[in-house]
Amino acid sequence: MPNDQANKLVENVKIEQFQNDLIHWFEKEQRILPWRKDKDPYKVWVSEIMLQQTKVDTVIPYFKQFIEKFPTLSDLADAEEQEVLKAWEGLGYYSRARNLQNAVREVVTSYNSKVPSETKQLGSLKGVGPYTKGAILSIAYDIPEPAVDGNVMRVLSRILLIDEDIAKQSVRNLFEQCVSQIISKDNPSAFNQGLMELGAVICTPRTPNCLLCPVQEHCQAYEAGRQDQLPVKSKKKKQKTIPYHVFVIKDSNGNFLIEKRSEKGLLANMWQFPMAPLDEVDLEHSEEWLEQIYGLKVNVNRNSNKIKHVFSHIIWQLDVYDASVVRGELSNSDAVFVSLEKLEEYPFPVPHQKILKHLR
Ligand code: ADE
Repeated sequence: MPNDQANKLVENVKIEQFQNDLIHWFEKEQRILPWRKDKDPYKVWVSEIMLQQTKVDTVIPYFKQFIEKFPTLSDLADAEEQEVLKAWEGLGYYSRARNLQNAVREVVTSYNSKVPSETKQLGSLKGVGPYTKGAILSIAYDIPEPAVDGNVMRVLSRILLIDEDIAKQSVRNLFEQCVSQIISKDNPSAFNQGLMELGAVICTPRTPNCLLCPVQEHCQAYEAGRQDQLPVKSKKKKQKTIPYHVFVIKDSNGNFLIEKRSEKGLLANMWQFPMAPLDEVDLEHSEEWLEQIYGLKVNVNRNSNKIKHVFSHIIWQLDVYDASVVRGELSNSDAVFVSLEKLEEYPFPVPHQKILKHLR
């Protein structure tokens, strides 16, 4: 039985008392956050997607603006993808926004614009993994489903003294089985949010504040004095650095050349200044390369600014060059010349926003 291990891990938990302690604390002490104002499944969904890999303080202003711009699920479904990417600009992991809109459109066409509360239907939507599914079901619909993310695994690794590697999928499954057994059936929303909140404000990665913890007496790691050693998490491999030349090309009208990235892969459908990997194009041949790709004769100034940007799995090292058009007609259909004011309207990844900032 795959559940044996979970059964063993929770067998000493005083489940009812644990639920009460956690839920009472959450209801009394929870932070006031914009997505906690109501239980609209659409807003819960948006907030949970934004909160993946992103801190609460960063998410708050984005969430507010996003909901102002797209107050209902239908508003988001009807929007242009570029508008959605623009609203997401700076948050990173832009496929989250693309998947969200894709899924919301599916809800409009297949589920009569109502976020499904049926687990199979909800889980089959783009970008809705087990965590997001559990968060929506429990918070918006009060259905007792586990919602296990990194924070929740940290909390439970301590409470249940689990020293297995939380980077492993099988271990995440184990945590989900544990939560399924201890989650409150009366108030799954407060239970799951209580675990999240505990991880955010008390049971923090370093030096958890055990003295203020509402479930201290349930915590096996605290009892063993091992809270600082948990969770166990194997290191992901180091990001590879990729160096690029970036060209900020101005035409005689003072407009700048930008291009749309491919519709697949990293930063799909976002915009950027033309860029070339250093190992494919050296600076001495950059003018030839630009003429080939864009049909423009360009003069590249040899002074550069350097920008470094760390993504989750790679690092961009950008050498940014100013350049001006000498002659020629733009021959690349993914690229356009745009005035400084109009550049505001396009979604740019953060490193290219930094370049834009320099231009202003
Ligand atoms: N992290 C993930 N989901 C959250 C939520 N609903 N509230 C606060 N932090 C969270």
